[in-house]
Amino acid sequence: ALRHNLQGFRQAVGSRVALGAVVKSNAYGHGMLETARIAVAAKAEWLCVNNLDEALALRGAGHQEKILIMGYVPLDGLEDVVRHGLRPVVYHLETVERLDTLGRQTDTRVPLHLKIETGTHRQGILERDVPAFAETIRNAKGVVLEGLSTHFANIEDTTNHEYAERQIETFDRVTEAFRQAGCPATMRHSACSAAALLFARTHLDLARLGIAMYGLWPSRETYLSCIERGRIEIDLRPVLTWKTRIAQVKDVAEGALVGYGCTWKATRPSSIAVLPVGYAEGYDRGLSGVAHVLVRGRRAPIRGRICMNICLADVTDIPGASLEDEVVLLGSQGDETITAEQLATWAGTISYEIVARIHPGLSRVVLEVEA
Ligand SMILES: Cc1ncc(COP(=O)(O)O)c(C=O)c1O
Repeated sequence: ALRHNLQGFRQAVGSRVALGAVVKSNAYGHGMLETARIAVAAKAEWLCVNNLDEALALRGAGHQEKILIMGYVPLDGLEDVVRHGLRPVVYHLETVERLDTLGRQTDTRVPLHLKIETGTHRQGILERDVPAFAETIRNAKGVVLEGLSTHFANIEDTTNHEYAERQIETFDRVTEAFRQAGCPATMRHSACSAAALLFARTHLDLARLGIAMYGLWPSRETYLSCIERGRIEIDLRPVLTWKTRIAQVKDVAEGALVGYGCTWKATRPSSIAVLPVGYAEGYDRGLSGVAHVLVRGRRAPIRGRICMNICLADVTDIPGASLEDEVVLLGSQGDETITAEQLATWAGTISYEIVARIHPGLSRVVLEVEA
């Protein structure tokens, strides 16, 4: 599915736009090294991470691709950035100056990417800071301005994209200001999944694809906007299935109270399956009493509170449910499916958080099936 989704994006963006696989945060819970290997085999030219540790883990696993570090790298981490040929996203003059010194010391020009503030008001340099950055970079012999980048504030949140369009205009203006200041960038990038799906003019030189590469729509609004704009040529396939097994099945008498806090009372003699997964594994506590899991191809409601490492599912209506039966928390079994979006709705969050919080310590099994 991962390969299929990336191939879909390759077709959608064309061959001149590089694909960046956003594998930060353990590849949104999918397993960073497993995902990076498949994404690179599917011709993603860049790997995008949040921090230096993730970048070093990729290099340690032998990845020689271009690695963009999108989050903050502390000044004392910059030596590693240079040593391992990483691309930091930068928005401080202090960082530029330190990279310049390190570059000159090692007789290299460190390729840096500046983050432009266009409306998200997180990291990024303001339009009025362009002259100072352009001058510093122009005079620096140890760095080169490889990229200018920005990130959208609400492109997934709405079907009205006026704000995103204003961000695109600001980004265009700022990149032109860098060019006019004698400091042109080799490449520009702005697209996350929703932008890549919705606006061809955000594709530029690199699309940084996270959630949609994992086969999940960034939001219902993005899906609707794609339909509205007739841009629905891409068929996203969810990559991840999350499974566990029944650890015990127990009979519970009518009137018995189940789980911490005694929040659920059996209204009939019931059969409760104990599942060895809880909020510490990433199964959100907000799913208490509202989610379903799949057992023997049927839905079993979660009863009572999700504990740290255990939750309880009602299998009274699933004859034969027994020890070691496979349980699907997220994904399909038989004709039933529990989607990340459904879990997110139950837990009052977004699908990004549902998958990203699946504990990195759980084993991931990669199924190499033909897409
Ligand atoms: C700077 C940046 N670019 C791209 C992405 C990927 O976003 P998405 O998962 O919506 O594709 C992220 C994710 O948070 C990000 O922070």
